[in-house]
Amino acid sequence: MSNNREQWSSKTNFILAAAGSAVGLGNIWKFPYIAGENGGAAFLFIYMICIVIIGLPILNIEILLGRATQKNPVGAFRALSGKPFWTYVGALGVFASFTILSFYSIVGGWSVAYTIEALKGFTFDTPQVAGEFFELKNSNPLWIMGYHTAFFLGVVGIILSGVRAGLERASKYLMPALFFILAILVVQGLVLPDANQGVSFLFEPDWSKINAQTFLLALGHAFFTLSLGMGAMMTYGSYLSDKDDIVNASYLVAFLDTFIAIMAGVAIFTVVFSSGYDPTAGPGLVFHVLPPLLSQLTGGYFFALLFFLLLTIAAITSAISILEVSVSYLVDEVKYSRKKATLIMGTLVYVASIPCALSFNILADVTFLGTGLTFFDMADYLASNFLLPLGGFFLAIFAGYVWKVDEVVKNLLIGNSRSIYFGNSILKSKSFVAVLSFLIRYVSPISIFLVFLYQFGWI
Ligand code: PHE
Repeated sequence: MSNNREQWSSKTNFILAAAGSAVGLGNIWKFPYIAGENGGAAFLFIYMICIVIIGLPILNIEILLGRATQKNPVGAFRALSGKPFWTYVGALGVFASFTILSFYSIVGGWSVAYTIEALKGFTFDTPQVAGEFFELKNSNPLWIMGYHTAFFLGVVGIILSGVRAGLERASKYLMPALFFILAILVVQGLVLPDANQGVSFLFEPDWSKINAQTFLLALGHAFFTLSLGMGAMMTYGSYLSDKDDIVNASYLVAFLDTFIAIMAGVAIFTVVFSSGYDPTAGPGLVFHVLPPLLSQLTGGYFFALLFFLLLTIAAITSAISILEVSVSYLVDEVKYSRKKATLIMGTLVYVASIPCALSFNILADVTFLGTGLTFFDMADYLASNFLLPLGGFFLAIFAGYVWKVDEVVKNLLIGNSRSIYFGNSILKSKSFVAVLSFLIRYVSPISIFLVFLYQFGWI
């Protein structure tokens, strides 16, 4: 274990930081709109199954690989396998961190912009008007670049401050704030007229809405929302000590992440249904539909402000975990100082994100060879539908066949002592090991493989 490597100051702070990474735009912006488009409760049900049988085991493994090696993804795979192939898998994570942040920080910029618009007070009567406003603003490269830059500088500033002063302190205050704001929005949503329609949309499954696509989207989203497949959790795990309990931390992070997605779903669908809007409005659901709806409620000014503040907070705590992957890579492998690594990676990602920002104006017509996808769309598509599941696939293969499940369990037991949920006795039981082994060796890789076949149109 390297001596000068910073560590979390307490287990709670690690959990807050890991939850801060997991809870992000994926929960508040993405989950409601894909659930809205895919049958609500039916999607939620399948997504939760994916979280439990695929997401949770991979979450444990990622954090574990980080803690066991105390290294970034590239260094972690090199330390454990010694084979160049696995180093490339780590490098894939660094590349994914780059790709995700290049579009994620644009949405982060929108959240900042809408927080400021909310502060001025929204004046839209309908989603149409709000939609036109959104398009108009984005057609101005300076507007989008300005807010994107503001968001980005915030993220870089936190990373520069280091693990304890930066990552930890940010999550420690921002996460509880986020939870609190969301709780207010849920209560406010539930007392609206016809709120029960929104609630039943989210909790009463219409099984006829389920098809292969639902399953695949749910799986992909499980990766994205738990920050899996690119080494973010591995990097956070690398700042943990052997005394920390990974199994229960993973359980809690997955629970919190799902709980917050559901809270966001309730907050949004109660408003949507109460006003008779369409839950399948798509990615615009948050930016087009919520400002007019929220601002028309009693006290709407504050709810609108709270909501976008919440979105910004959630985006920041996730974005820092994305950038941290590439920064820790440079710090560990190239031996750069944290400051130098942050400035280099920050600049590179910033440059990479410029085409994404310009995808809404100057470069709107530049699309990738016949796909119709702009730079922004492509970064999103590549990350969520390809890079993360691919990373997850290799993680499962690595843990199941190279590192082996016995070694995984042996390592999981380290630090796992006085457990409330998954104590030593459970981890040691033969049936637990058998189930874990089955999930890691077969269920995860095969499901992910099927996703790929589907993505490429081969099934
Ligand atoms: N989990 C984050 C979200 O839901 C996104 C993310 C993906 C963060 C991958 C880190 C790594 O918004």
